[in-house]
Parts: sequence; structure tokens; C-alpha cells
Amino acid sequence: MIVPINFHSSQFPETLHAELLESLRTRRVNHKFHYESRRQARRWLAIHQKYSPSRNDPTCRAIYEDAFAATAKHIQTPAAHVIGLGCGGGSKDLMLLERIRKLGKMLVYSACDSSLPLVLTARQKAMKLLDVRHVHDLVADLMTAEDLQRIFITQTTGNSTRVVNFLGMIPNFEPDAILKRLSSLLRPKDMLVFSANLASGEDYRAGVEKILPQYDNPKTREWLTTFLTDIGVEASDGRLEFKVEEDESGHGLFRVVAWFEFENERVIEVEDEKFSFNPGERLRLFFSYRHTPKTVREWLEGEAIEVLEEKIAHGDEEGVFVCRKA
Ligand SMILES: C[S@@+](CC[C@H](N)C(=O)[O-])C[C@H]1O[C@@H](n2cnc3c(N)ncnc32)[C@H](O)[C@@H]1O
Repeated sequence: MIVPINFHSSQFPETLHAELLESLRTRRVNHKFHYESRRQARRWLAIHQKYSPSRNDPTCRAIYEDAFAATAKHIQTPAAHVIGLGCGGGSKDLMLLERIRKLGKMLVYSACDSSLPLVLTARQKAMKLLDVRHVHDLVADLMTAEDLQRIFITQTTGNSTRVVNFLGMIPNFEPDAILKRLSSLLRPKDMLVFSANLASGEDYRAGVEKILPQYDNPKTREWLTTFLTDIGVEASDGRLEFKVEEDESGHGLFRVVAWFEFENERVIEVEDEKFSFNPGERLRLFFSYRHTPKTVREWLEGEAIEVLEEKIAHGDEEGVFVCRKA
């Protein structure tokens, strides 16, 4: 079987090569590099299965069910176009597709992610429900693919409500940059289903400390270390540490940050460029912001995105926001 896949130039090898060099130069790894290969995608899916509250906490799963039911209710047109922006393995997108399908709507789905293995996984899942003609795939970098809006427009059929699923994405991007970008991809009246990890309890920092074990565990360590071993760093070259830190953007937000601190000297050669890491130097592998319902609402309002419904999981660890662009 031959499956033609849409590959955007933002994910072409020469672009990825330049971005990898930038990650090594700045000592800040672009987090999309943790999902690129089949092995990384498989490891991340296993972690998601084991640690994501949306998978293993029934009350958290219920907020997704509720949010998708609410989203479906807001669709008044005979057709809908669901865009999984950063679709991952597509499990949550499928939940929404099933909801809308039950209403007898004509349905189109676009699976968009920077990871080829994950786009293929999401595509296969959607095809259990939809005809191949109604499933679009796109391997693209949502931050840098300038013509993404135009591509989605060509996939939206007439008389259709567009729903952009942006689930579990916001924590891994710098808040201002991602919100501006997300907003630029929405047309007036488009719906947005947006989920964010939240810090629970009165004490924000303590709420973030509490969720450290969701990151600092053997499976996540193995997943994040895959990037290092792929570029020629041995796990024994240093220590991987997870810390709670205040962000640099001045919003007073906290995030979990994974740092690799070198204990041995290591030179990494990427084609003709060499990068030397000395003992004591650190490479930031990953970060995940924790938001509060208040910060999420304020940001969305700042981009003229109205929150129609808000579902917060029992324990306040995850929130799903059903929104509409004004
Ligand atoms: C935490 S996962 C969330 C996946 C899915 N939405 C879910 O909730 O299960 C983050 C996803 O974002 C994708 N991703 C990371 N950076 C990206 C970028 N710049 N452009 C497009 N996708 C990106 C990753 O490949 C991964 O599938």
C-alpha cells in the first residue's frame, strides 16, 4: 500500500538541520526534536499512556468527553472540519470526531504535527471512522510554516464549522509566541478546543512541585535521553535533572524544566560543525509550563478568543477550554 503524505518544507531535512544546530548553539533544544523518530514517538506514546491524567484518571478523561460534547453542540452547520494542531497520536481528536459523527454531520479531519510517525498514527486512527478522502495529513512545523492558514482553507469544505484542537500543546511553547501564532491561524468564528496542564491548590509553586513525578520518572528520562544519544552524547556524560523554575517571559508562570548537566567533556560533531560541552555546562532539553485557569482566560481574551465553556478536572490538574474566535 502506498500512502502519499503531505510534507511541508518547514520539516525538510535542511531546515531541521539548521534548527538542530541552533538548538546546540543556544543550549536550548527545540522540543519538536523529542518526537521525530519512530523510537521517540513510540516512547512518548507509552509515557502518555502511563502518566497523562487524560488517559488514566477517569475524572480527567470525563472533562475531555464533556468539552467535546459541548463543542459538538455549538456546531450548527451541516459540516465540520476538525484540525488536530499538534495531533500527537490523535486519540483525543478521535474522541471529538466520534462526537460530531454521532450528530450525522459531514466531517473532514486534518492531522497536523511536526512528527511523521505521529501524523501517520493519527491518520490511521481517524480512518477507522472516516473515508480516506476526508482525512488530510500534514507534517509541518506549526510555528514556522507561514502558509499553514492557506493550506487549511483549501481543506475546509463549504458550510462548515472549523474546530481547531490544540490539546496538551501550550505548555511546551513560550506563552506569548504560541498564543499569537495560534490566534493567527484562527479565522473569525472558528472554534478552538484548548487544553492546558494546570497548577492545583492555593500555592502555585507547590502545585507545580507536586506534579514533578509526572516528568521525573524512568520512562520520561529514557524518552528525553533518546535525543542525546542520537546526537552522540552518552547518558553517562552527565545528569538529567528536573527543576521547577519561574519562566523568563515575566508572566510569573512556573514550569518544569529538564536540564542535562555535563559531568564529562563531550564534543558533538554535526557534519562540519563541532559543539564542545565542558563539565558543569547545561543543555535545556525540555520544559512544560503550568498555567492557572485565570492566566489561560486572560491570554485568550487578549487575542479576542472567547471562552464558551471551561471544564476543569477534579483535582484541578487539567483544564479544557471550548472557545470561539470573535
Ligand atoms: C505533548 S504532545 C501533544 C499531542 C496531542 N495533542 C495530545 O494531546 O495527545 C506535543 C505534540 O506537539 C508536536 N509538536 C512539537 N512541536 C511542534 C511544532 N513546532 N509544530 C508542530 N507540531 C509540534 C509533537 O510532535 C507532539 O506530537
